[in-house]
Amino acid sequence: MLNINSSNIPKIIIALDFYSKKEAMKLVDFLNPSLVYLKIGKEMFTILGKKFIQELHQLGFNIFLDLKFHDIPNTVFNATKAVADLGVWMLSVHASGGKKMLISAKKALKTFKNAPLLIAVTALTSLKRKDLKEIGIQMSLQDYILTLSKLSIDCGLDGIVCPGQEAKKIKLLYGDKCKIITPGIRCTNDSFNDQKNIITPEQIKKFPIDYIVIGRSITFSKNPIKKLNFIIQSMQ
Ligand code: C5P
Repeated sequence: MLNINSSNIPKIIIALDFYSKKEAMKLVDFLNPSLVYLKIGKEMFTILGKKFIQELHQLGFNIFLDLKFHDIPNTVFNATKAVADLGVWMLSVHASGGKKMLISAKKALKTFKNAPLLIAVTALTSLKRKDLKEIGIQMSLQDYILTLSKLSIDCGLDGIVCPGQEAKKIKLLYGDKCKIITPGIRCTNDSFNDQKNIITPEQIKKFPIDYIVIGRSITFSKNPIKKLNFIIQSMQ
Protein backbone atom coordinates (compact mmCIF):
# COMPACT_ATOMS: atom_id res chain seq x y z
CA MET A 1 0.00 0.00 0.00
CA LEU A 2 1.22 3.50 -0.85
CA ASN A 3 2.12 5.91 1.89
CA ILE A 4 -0.14 8.89 2.36
CA ASN A 5 2.11 11.93 2.05
CA SER A 6 -0.20 14.83 2.53
CA SER A 7 -1.72 15.61 5.91
CA ASN A 8 -4.53 17.67 4.42
CA ILE A 9 -6.25 14.82 2.66
CA PRO A 10 -8.96 12.90 4.49
CA LYS A 11 -8.29 9.61 6.20
CA ILE A 12 -9.56 6.55 4.39
CA ILE A 13 -12.25 4.23 5.70
CA ILE A 14 -12.75 1.10 3.59
CA ALA A 15 -16.30 -0.27 3.61
CA LEU A 16 -15.89 -4.04 3.93
CA ASP A 17 -19.18 -4.88 2.27
CA PHE A 18 -18.59 -8.55 1.45
CA TYR A 19 -20.69 -11.69 1.88
CA SER A 20 -18.00 -13.83 3.44
CA LYS A 21 -15.00 -13.56 5.70
CA LYS A 22 -12.87 -15.28 3.06
CA GLU A 23 -13.62 -12.56 0.53
CA ALA A 24 -13.07 -9.79 3.07
CA MET A 25 -9.74 -11.21 4.25
CA LYS A 26 -8.43 -11.35 0.67
CA LEU A 27 -8.42 -7.56 0.87
CA VAL A 28 -7.74 -7.03 4.60
CA ASP A 29 -4.55 -9.11 4.43
CA PHE A 30 -3.01 -6.49 2.15
CA LEU A 31 -4.09 -3.42 4.14
CA ASN A 32 -2.00 -1.45 6.59
CA PRO A 33 -3.93 -0.68 9.81
CA SER A 34 -1.92 2.48 10.39
CA LEU A 35 -3.07 3.88 7.02
CA VAL A 36 -6.72 2.83 6.72
CA TYR A 37 -9.75 2.29 8.92
CA LEU A 38 -12.31 -0.44 8.25
CA LYS A 39 -16.07 -0.05 8.17
CA ILE A 40 -18.27 -3.01 9.01
CA GLY A 41 -21.88 -2.53 8.00
CA LYS A 42 -25.14 -4.38 8.38
CA GLU A 43 -24.19 -7.04 5.86
CA MET A 44 -20.94 -8.32 7.40
CA PHE A 45 -22.06 -7.79 10.98
CA THR A 46 -25.18 -9.86 10.38
CA ILE A 47 -23.15 -12.64 8.82
CA LEU A 48 -20.09 -12.65 11.09
CA GLY A 49 -21.04 -10.81 14.28
CA LYS A 50 -18.74 -9.55 16.99
CA LYS A 51 -16.14 -12.30 16.59
CA PHE A 52 -15.08 -10.76 13.28
CA ILE A 53 -14.72 -7.35 14.92
CA GLN A 54 -12.50 -8.90 17.57
CA GLU A 55 -10.35 -10.56 14.91
CA LEU A 56 -9.90 -7.29 13.05
CA HIS A 57 -9.00 -5.56 16.32
CA GLN A 58 -6.34 -8.19 16.91
CA LEU A 59 -4.87 -7.32 13.53
CA GLY A 60 -4.62 -3.70 14.70
CA PHE A 61 -7.48 -2.11 12.76
CA ASN A 62 -9.74 0.66 14.01
CA ILE A 63 -13.32 -0.27 13.26
CA PHE A 64 -16.27 1.91 12.32
CA LEU A 65 -19.36 -0.20 13.08
CA ASP A 66 -21.90 1.36 10.77
CA LEU A 67 -25.24 -0.04 11.91
CA LYS A 68 -27.04 3.33 11.56
CA PHE A 69 -29.37 2.97 14.54
CA HIS A 70 -32.83 4.50 14.20
CA ASP A 71 -35.25 3.43 16.93
CA ILE A 72 -36.88 4.58 20.16
CA PRO A 73 -34.45 6.29 22.56
CA ASN A 74 -34.35 3.40 25.05
CA THR A 75 -33.48 0.84 22.37
CA VAL A 76 -30.82 3.08 20.85
CA PHE A 77 -29.34 3.70 24.33
CA ASN A 78 -28.92 -0.06 24.89
CA ALA A 79 -27.72 -0.79 21.37
CA THR A 80 -25.13 2.02 21.52
CA LYS A 81 -23.82 0.67 24.82
CA ALA A 82 -23.55 -2.81 23.32
CA VAL A 83 -21.56 -1.46 20.39
CA ALA A 84 -19.25 0.58 22.63
CA ASP A 85 -18.59 -2.61 24.63
CA LEU A 86 -17.03 -4.05 21.48
CA GLY A 87 -14.30 -1.41 21.66
CA VAL A 88 -14.93 0.01 18.20
CA TRP A 89 -13.55 3.37 17.12
CA MET A 90 -16.71 4.84 15.59
CA LEU A 91 -20.44 4.09 15.39
CA SER A 92 -23.42 5.59 13.62
CA VAL A 93 -27.05 6.52 14.17
CA HIS A 94 -29.58 8.23 11.91
CA ALA A 95 -29.97 11.91 12.82
CA SER A 96 -33.60 11.69 11.67
CA GLY A 97 -34.28 9.54 14.77
CA GLY A 98 -34.68 12.89 16.53
CA LYS A 99 -33.31 14.83 19.48
CA LYS A 100 -34.28 12.39 22.25
CA MET A 101 -32.80 9.46 20.38
CA LEU A 102 -29.53 11.31 19.69
CA ILE A 103 -29.20 12.42 23.32
CA SER A 104 -29.83 8.83 24.46
CA ALA A 105 -27.09 7.53 22.18
CA LYS A 106 -24.69 10.13 23.55
CA LYS A 107 -25.67 9.32 27.16
CA ALA A 108 -25.01 5.64 26.56
CA LEU A 109 -21.32 6.43 26.01
CA LYS A 110 -20.88 8.46 29.20
CA THR A 111 -19.38 5.67 31.27
CA PHE A 112 -16.81 4.59 28.67
CA LYS A 113 -13.23 5.73 29.14
CA ASN A 114 -12.35 5.44 25.46
CA ALA A 115 -15.81 6.00 24.03
CA PRO A 116 -16.19 5.54 20.27
CA LEU A 117 -16.88 8.54 18.10
CA LEU A 118 -20.62 8.88 17.70
CA ILE A 119 -21.68 10.13 14.30
CA ALA A 120 -25.03 10.78 12.68
CA VAL A 121 -26.10 10.08 9.14
CA THR A 122 -27.84 13.19 7.79
CA ALA A 123 -29.13 12.29 4.32
CA LEU A 124 -27.98 9.11 2.64
CA THR A 125 -25.73 9.89 -0.32
CA SER A 126 -28.14 7.83 -2.43
CA LEU A 127 -30.96 10.36 -1.92
CA LYS A 128 -32.00 13.25 -4.14
CA ARG A 129 -34.57 15.96 -3.52
CA LYS A 130 -37.22 13.85 -5.26
CA ASP A 131 -36.63 11.00 -2.76
CA LEU A 132 -37.05 13.41 0.15
CA LYS A 133 -40.35 14.63 -1.30
CA GLU A 134 -41.57 11.04 -1.52
CA ILE A 135 -41.14 10.68 2.24
CA GLY A 136 -42.86 13.99 2.90
CA ILE A 137 -39.84 16.25 3.33
CA GLN A 138 -40.32 19.48 1.38
CA MET A 139 -36.93 21.09 2.19
CA SER A 140 -34.04 21.05 -0.25
CA LEU A 141 -31.49 18.30 0.29
CA GLN A 142 -28.98 20.96 1.41
CA ASP A 143 -31.33 22.45 4.01
CA TYR A 144 -32.26 18.99 5.25
CA ILE A 145 -28.58 18.12 5.74
CA LEU A 146 -27.89 21.44 7.50
CA THR A 147 -30.89 20.99 9.81
CA LEU A 148 -29.85 17.48 10.80
CA SER A 149 -26.21 18.51 11.21
CA LYS A 150 -27.20 21.28 13.63
CA LEU A 151 -29.40 18.89 15.58
CA SER A 152 -26.62 16.31 15.81
CA ILE A 153 -23.98 18.77 16.98
CA ASP A 154 -26.41 20.40 19.45
CA CYS A 155 -27.01 16.94 20.92
CA GLY A 156 -23.27 16.50 21.47
CA LEU A 157 -22.45 14.08 18.66
CA ASP A 158 -18.92 14.01 17.27
CA GLY A 159 -19.72 14.36 13.61
CA ILE A 160 -21.97 13.67 10.70
CA VAL A 161 -22.11 11.72 7.45
CA CYS A 162 -22.90 13.89 4.46
CA PRO A 163 -22.08 14.29 0.76
CA GLY A 164 -18.80 16.08 0.07
CA GLN A 165 -20.61 18.97 -1.58
CA GLU A 166 -22.12 20.00 1.79
CA ALA A 167 -18.91 19.73 3.83
CA LYS A 168 -17.78 23.36 3.44
CA LYS A 169 -20.90 24.95 4.93
CA ILE A 170 -20.95 22.53 7.84
CA LYS A 171 -17.25 23.00 8.67
CA LEU A 172 -17.68 26.77 8.55
CA LEU A 173 -20.48 26.50 11.09
CA TYR A 174 -19.03 23.94 13.50
CA GLY A 175 -15.30 23.68 12.79
CA ASP A 176 -13.50 20.76 14.36
CA LYS A 177 -16.40 20.06 16.71
CA CYS A 178 -17.94 18.26 13.75
CA LYS A 179 -16.05 15.49 12.02
CA ILE A 180 -17.22 15.04 8.45
CA ILE A 181 -17.47 11.58 6.98
CA THR A 182 -18.22 11.31 3.27
CA PRO A 183 -19.22 8.22 1.27
CA GLY A 184 -20.10 8.25 -2.42
CA ILE A 185 -16.52 8.21 -3.73
CA ARG A 186 -16.41 7.24 -7.40
CA CYS A 187 -13.62 7.07 -9.94
CA THR A 188 -14.55 8.13 -13.47
CA ASN A 189 -14.53 4.53 -14.78
CA ASP A 190 -16.65 3.03 -11.96
CA SER A 191 -19.89 1.61 -13.29
CA PHE A 192 -22.25 1.37 -10.28
CA ASN A 193 -24.41 4.47 -10.00
CA ASP A 194 -26.80 4.04 -7.06
CA GLN A 195 -25.07 6.85 -5.16
CA LYS A 196 -26.39 10.23 -6.36
CA ASN A 197 -24.11 12.70 -4.59
CA ILE A 198 -20.73 11.48 -5.65
CA ILE A 199 -17.23 12.97 -5.73
CA THR A 200 -14.12 11.75 -7.49
CA PRO A 201 -10.77 11.23 -5.71
CA GLU A 202 -9.38 14.25 -7.61
CA GLN A 203 -12.16 16.48 -6.19
CA ILE A 204 -11.70 15.38 -2.58
CA LYS A 205 -9.04 17.99 -1.75
CA LYS A 206 -11.53 20.77 -2.50
CA PHE A 207 -13.74 19.76 0.42
CA PRO A 208 -13.01 19.93 4.17
CA ILE A 209 -13.76 16.26 4.75
CA ASP A 210 -12.17 14.39 7.67
CA TYR A 211 -12.83 10.83 6.50
CA ILE A 212 -13.87 9.34 3.19
CA VAL A 213 -15.68 6.01 2.98
CA ILE A 214 -14.79 3.93 -0.05
CA GLY A 215 -16.62 0.71 -0.81
CA ARG A 216 -17.23 -0.83 -4.21
CA SER A 217 -14.74 1.36 -6.01
CA ILE A 218 -12.18 -0.79 -4.22
CA THR A 219 -14.03 -3.96 -3.24
CA PHE A 220 -15.47 -4.56 -6.76
CA SER A 221 -12.17 -3.87 -8.43
CA LYS A 222 -10.21 -6.73 -10.05
CA ASN A 223 -7.12 -5.43 -8.28
CA PRO A 224 -8.29 -3.68 -5.09
CA ILE A 225 -4.85 -2.66 -3.82
CA LYS A 226 -3.90 -1.16 -7.20
CA LYS A 227 -7.20 0.74 -7.16
CA LEU A 228 -6.64 1.93 -3.58
CA ASN A 229 -3.16 3.16 -4.52
CA PHE A 230 -4.61 4.91 -7.55
CA ILE A 231 -7.18 6.66 -5.32
CA ILE A 232 -4.49 7.68 -2.80
CA GLN A 233 -2.35 9.11 -5.61
CA SER A 234 -5.26 10.97 -7.18
CA MET A 235 -6.11 12.59 -3.86
CA GLN A 236 -2.65 14.02 -3.14
O1 C5P B 1 -19.80 0.97 -2.33
P1 C5P B 1 -19.91 2.39 -1.88
O2 C5P B 1 -18.62 3.15 -1.98
O3 C5P B 1 -21.10 3.12 -2.44
O4 C5P B 1 -20.16 2.21 -0.31
C1 C5P B 1 -20.52 3.23 0.51
C2 C5P B 1 -20.63 2.73 1.92
O5 C5P B 1 -20.96 3.84 2.74
C3 C5P B 1 -21.71 1.67 2.14
O6 C5P B 1 -21.20 0.74 3.10
C4 C5P B 1 -22.87 2.44 2.73
O7 C5P B 1 -23.60 1.71 3.66
C5 C5P B 1 -22.17 3.61 3.42
N1 C5P B 1 -22.95 4.87 3.52
C6 C5P B 1 -23.44 5.57 2.44
N2 C5P B 1 -24.15 6.73 2.61
C7 C5P B 1 -24.34 7.21 3.82
C8 C5P B 1 -23.85 6.53 4.93
C9 C5P B 1 -23.12 5.35 4.74
O8 C5P B 1 -23.21 5.14 1.31
N3 C5P B 1 -24.98 8.36 3.98
